[in-house]
Amino acid sequence: MGHNLYTFVMMQKAISLIPSEIPTGKLHAYLLGAVGPRPIAFASTIDEQGIPNLSPFSFFNVFSANPPILIFSPARRVRDNTTKHTLDNVLKIKEVVINIVNYELVQQMSLTSTEYGEKENEFKKAGLTMLESDLVRPYRVAESPVQFECKVTKVEPLGEEGGAGNLVFSEVVKMHFYESILDENGLIDQFKIDQVARMGGNWYSRANKGMFEVPKPLSAIGIGVDNIPKEIRSLKMLTGNDLGLLGNVDRIPDKNEIEEFIASNDQIRSIVKNKDTTELLKITREYLDNNKILSAWKVLLINIEINGNTRKN
Ligand SMILES: Cc1cc2nc3c(=O)[nH]c(=O)nc-3n(C[C@H](O)[C@H](O)[C@H](O)COP(=O)(O)O)c2cc1C
Repeated sequence: MGHNLYTFVMMQKAISLIPSEIPTGKLHAYLLGAVGPRPIAFASTIDEQGIPNLSPFSFFNVFSANPPILIFSPARRVRDNTTKHTLDNVLKIKEVVINIVNYELVQQMSLTSTEYGEKENEFKKAGLTMLESDLVRPYRVAESPVQFECKVTKVEPLGEEGGAGNLVFSEVVKMHFYESILDENGLIDQFKIDQVARMGGNWYSRANKGMFEVPKPLSAIGIGVDNIPKEIRSLKMLTGNDLGLLGNVDRIPDKNEIEEFIASNDQIRSIVKNKDTTELLKITREYLDNNKILSAWKVLLINIEINGNTRKN
């Protein structure tokens, strides 16, 4: 207040850096913290054996309408200069489906960025549905509100060292939109699409609401939605985001931990005594909404234990 723009600018202290003089990891963090929010390409590819791969890339945008070109960039790992399966795949099978990520998909999307082995199908790990494409071999993400079937026309490496990007030129040959995101003119309603974008650190932006955090998937690899017991997976109260969070733990709590949890929690003890499933599921919801994922797991396992089949909920 009281300052004109010139005095304000003069009062700012700045740090100035030459990229080659700082470690790549730090440079990466500055670039990602400054350039955002970035849209997310949820890229589905396939290898020569037909094994599907699904991973998110926020070095992504649309660059041309005629021809319709999207570009995303799987980078060489800063850590050890290895390449990502997505890059290896598009160099051999030159096709990709780029799926758009809405808020409902964000946790499952995040789970697919875990470094699962080459043979692991991330659709399965994240509990997402593989939908056959019409013109390309890679599958679409059925849950995604927009799916672009693309032919890869060029892959342009930007360097040879850790951190180097690889531009994957993806020409759209067919696109699919959910009718539920269209407006009365048949165009995409910018509120209904409910897009999310990536920012620096663990931050994302929900375009029509604001910023939120998704902790990076564990470096210890998450068990995956496919390893969540059937009785839990089929609970109607659990959303895709809930399943993504539950699949991101590195192991399921054991009997001892659950007993300790019950012993140390009066409320849970009395609910267990009354076999009150409704109350247990209410508490599960609270834990999930407050990001207490291990506690949510414990309550869900207690629920199986005391009620057996809970599918009606
Ligand atoms: C939201 C989000 C955006 C990401 N963007 C990129 C990116 O632009 N480039 C990249 O190399 N990795 C990116 N990653 C990390 C990759 O998704 C991750 O390395 C993944 O395991 C690669 O899988 P793949 O080896 O199966 O291709 C991103 C991760 C997340 C969660």
